[in-house]
Amino acid sequence: MNDNGLPIVIGCDHAAFALKERIKSYLAGVGVPVEDAGAFSEASVDYPDVAARVAKDILAGRFGRGILLCGTGIGMAMAANRFPGIRAALCHDLFTATLCRQHNDANVLIMGGRIIGDGLAMAMVKAWLETPFEGGRHAARLEKLERNSPCHSQGR
Ligand code: RB5
Repeated sequence: MNDNGLPIVIGCDHAAFALKERIKSYLAGVGVPVEDAGAFSEASVDYPDVAARVAKDILAGRFGRGILLCGTGIGMAMAANRFPGIRAALCHDLFTATLCRQHNDANVLIMGGRIIGDGLAMAMVKAWLETPFEGGRHAARLEKLERNSPCHSQGR
């Protein structure tokens, strides 16, 4: 299910702990290896810390892709996309969960635990895991995404 055979990593803050647990159960049920990067309870945590942990682990090659969840998904998206090489997509429906793979090769799926219901969330995870990147003109745009970034050596 995962394009490079590596497990996926999942992280959340307190606002999406329940959704994270349900997604973990879903992934276990369909045989997708997943590692939990926390949070491990509904005690308050700061989403930038979890996003950074997940982003660094993906960039280090420990995981192929990641899922991040917070109340709205907005904070996780802001935090994860600070890391060059991370393409985190805040998705709200099947269309965005599918297109972020086809066009953007999103390596992190983000959802809002206070927004997305369980049934839709699982369908989005399934679509995101199973949909391949289309490449072609989209690959050239992704290269620009990194090259145009102020973090890129050429852009400094
Ligand atoms: C936590 O209350 C909430 O701010 C957080 O989960 C997230 O929605 C931030 O973007």
